[in-house]
Amino acid sequence: MDLLAQGAEAKLFRDKDKVIKERIAKGYRHHDIDLGLRRFRTRREAKVLQKLDDMQFPAPKFHDFCDKRMTITMDFVEGPVLRDVLSSKAQVPQDEYQELAQRVGKQIGQLHMNDIIHGDLTTSNMILEGHMNKTNSTLKFIDFGLSKFSDKAEDKAVDLHLLDRALESTHSDLYPQIFKDALEAYKKANPNAAKVLERLSKVQKRGRHKK
Ligand SMILES: Nc1ncnc2c1ncn2[C@@H]1O[C@H](COP(=O)(O)OP(=O)(O)O)[C@@H](O)[C@H]1O
Ligand SMILES: [Mg+2]
Repeated sequence: MDLLAQGAEAKLFRDKDKVIKERIAKGYRHHDIDLGLRRFRTRREAKVLQKLDDMQFPAPKFHDFCDKRMTITMDFVEGPVLRDVLSSKAQVPQDEYQELAQRVGKQIGQLHMNDIIHGDLTTSNMILEGHMNKTNSTLKFIDFGLSKFSDKAEDKAVDLHLLDRALESTHSDLYPQIFKDALEAYKKANPNAAKVLERLSKVQKRGRHKK
């Protein structure tokens, strides 16, 4: 088994066509709180991945989880994370940025229509599978440990706000157009988008006052 990635919360191992995500203990957290948090996030990610399988939403296929070892087993997704695709100007012609942004917005719209809040919408949490075969590529969302089920416009607006902030800091050269393109596609995909967008402008004002 090879170490695939080590994030702040988890180690990811690759075992042939599978990925094992193991949430690691955080020494700075109280032992019981740390256990509880890791167990909660492991179970939550497993539950959301199962629901996404049922919906046929593009995400890694779920296999199993263990809340003693704090692991989730899912399919390995072959391809670069969207952050790297959008950062490598040489590889992606200008007009493809827009198409990718539209896919991001459309897919978030599908999640929200099903009352799934991602909780950590960044371009590192999206993998462009089959990148080389452009007509057939699939944008798979990953990292559902901070997800929740909610029908509240507020929660959906905050989800979009986090994406907005992530795009601004990670893809400043494509911002704000990239977020506008994503929002346009979100509106088309989610019939309840109006309420969420109304809320989003309130969330954004709130964010500005905090600065
Ligand atoms: N199913 C997968 N297939 C391929 N790579 C993956 C998969 N899941 C995660 N990764 C890689 O591991 C990284 C970290 O995984 P992620 O679930 O986002 O954990 P973290 O909470 O540490 O951000 C991702 O950015 C991606 O590069
Ligand atoms: Mg991540």
